[in-house]
Amino acid sequence: MAIKLKIDRQDVSVPEGTTVLDAAAEAGVHIPTLCHVPKVTSPGSCRVCLVEVEGARTLQPACVTPVMEGMVVRTHSKRARQGRQMSVELLLANHPWDCNACVRNGQCELQTLAQTLGITDVRFPYSREEIPVDTSTPAVVRDMNKCILCRRCVAVCQDVQDVGSLAPRARGFDTVIGAGAGENLCDAVCVQCGQCAAICPVGAIYEQDAIEDVWRALDDPEKHVVVQTAPAIRAALGECFGLEPGTSVTGKMVAALRRLGFAKVFDTNFTADLTIIEEGHELLTRLKTALVDKGEVSLPMFTSCSPGWINFMEHFYPGLLPNLSSCKSPQQMFGALAKTYYAEKEGIDPKDIVVVSVMPCTAKKFEADRDEMMDSGFKDVDYVLTTRELGRMIQEAGIDFMKLPDEEQDSPMGMSTGAADIFANTGGVMEAALRTVYEVVTGRELPMEKLHVTPIQGLSGLKEVALTFEKCQPDWSFLEGVTAKVAVAHGLSNARKVCDMVADGEGGYHFVEVMCCPGGCIGGGGQPRMTTDEVRQARIKAIYTEDEGRPMRKSHDNPAIDQIYKEFLGEPLGHKSHELLHTHYQAKAPA
Ligand code: FES
Repeated sequence: MAIKLKIDRQDVSVPEGTTVLDAAAEAGVHIPTLCHVPKVTSPGSCRVCLVEVEGARTLQPACVTPVMEGMVVRTHSKRARQGRQMSVELLLANHPWDCNACVRNGQCELQTLAQTLGITDVRFPYSREEIPVDTSTPAVVRDMNKCILCRRCVAVCQDVQDVGSLAPRARGFDTVIGAGAGENLCDAVCVQCGQCAAICPVGAIYEQDAIEDVWRALDDPEKHVVVQTAPAIRAALGECFGLEPGTSVTGKMVAALRRLGFAKVFDTNFTADLTIIEEGHELLTRLKTALVDKGEVSLPMFTSCSPGWINFMEHFYPGLLPNLSSCKSPQQMFGALAKTYYAEKEGIDPKDIVVVSVMPCTAKKFEADRDEMMDSGFKDVDYVLTTRELGRMIQEAGIDFMKLPDEEQDSPMGMSTGAADIFANTGGVMEAALRTVYEVVTGRELPMEKLHVTPIQGLSGLKEVALTFEKCQPDWSFLEGVTAKVAVAHGLSNARKVCDMVADGEGGYHFVEVMCCPGGCIGGGGQPRMTTDEVRQARIKAIYTEDEGRPMRKSHDNPAIDQIYKEFLGEPLGHKSHELLHTHYQAKAPA
């Protein structure tokens, strides 16, 4: 039923149940918000969205007030403006005034609000006791002195990721957002995904900054510093320079990295292609063991490229760890090969090689620090920058990003296919794997329009598709007539659903892709803020466009992958691959 009301003297008609905030947006009126994030949380606690409703005694929070027939709303009356200013002043009175030295300076929602609302003075004294900054994990820093108790981080951690490591502690003026039962995040069951850092409106949660470490390495004449960039970076980095979400900036990104001083600009896409070869063979080997040898094998096989998802499995579903592919993530495969294959090929002592990754994800920082990620004999990946950190480095270096020419990655570890591009988004790893597995097994291309497996694309939480193998090649005749059922989940609350199904023997899946963050890596915790569903869709579109524009779109067509097997690795799942490209997982403290 349509409800008719007046907002700032305009007649508005909206469906019943619409909030005043959304009705105002329909009418082209922007009401400021802070605690409200569409599709994530709307606790109605910050009181920044106050409006005057005729007949109501008090100002009403627009984000949680439903429209009513005949309602008359004033969004910028003197009373509404003063109410909002008071709400923001109260927040500012409890917030350190060191904006110039804050990581969010210039990008802080509280700072912007204060400016928009014309607040130049705060009438209340600052009266907060100092809380030690929590730097206990390699991924995320928590500075609760700056927390404004909007609880966005709590909502994303509990409801979107279903991890629940963050929660309010104490009450009233003493309330703080705590991590687990201890003081610090390292005491909590945290998967390090950084979704809290991506959604925090102020400087209370942010990534561990590796920028100074990377500058130091670049300044060291003894070091040969190479960089790899994850597929998702190219569809988001432009946002740091004011470009629309979904603007692909691959060529400019490469040019910027060269100007920053990296000796070689490589691509994580190269090892994404390699992952498909290794993981595809692992899947086929598991299927053969189950179908031909009738041996013990864990199916479905889960993908293993998302480190937040690995952390989630280790904490919450240790019984399913044998189902995880033993493949390292593309980031870690790259690091191990840079310090072995590349070092050997170029005659560089691996101790002098510094590997820097640019990743959309804070959990990648944690992954690079894992004890088992030293198979090259050194730390395989030295430093991990998020997309946001790379944006800051480019700005600090004074590089005019928009004026950069498009440049190409270096060889050999910069060559890749469209299949690697789509690792960036939910469903992409599975689609890339199916492009290769189907062709290896049948000798024919995947019979889908433009090679896209549409049922597993898009932002539905849990997607599935079944594919029947017909007219198989002699080596794979055991798959003749077999229908492979695959599933794709993104965001850990969806991952939990699929894990519960598998643990209960349901689903009948053979292969499952899970990405920790909503939308996959394009929505990672290290990407430019704010990542809404519209932003996710725009980035995904850019990634598929990139894929479709490539001359090579299947991982097994990448000649640099052929070359590395011939020159160095031998064969998929061979001895050297096991040594450098595969790993194992460990059960962690339960949740
Ligand atoms: Fe409405 Fe916070 S945005 S109360």
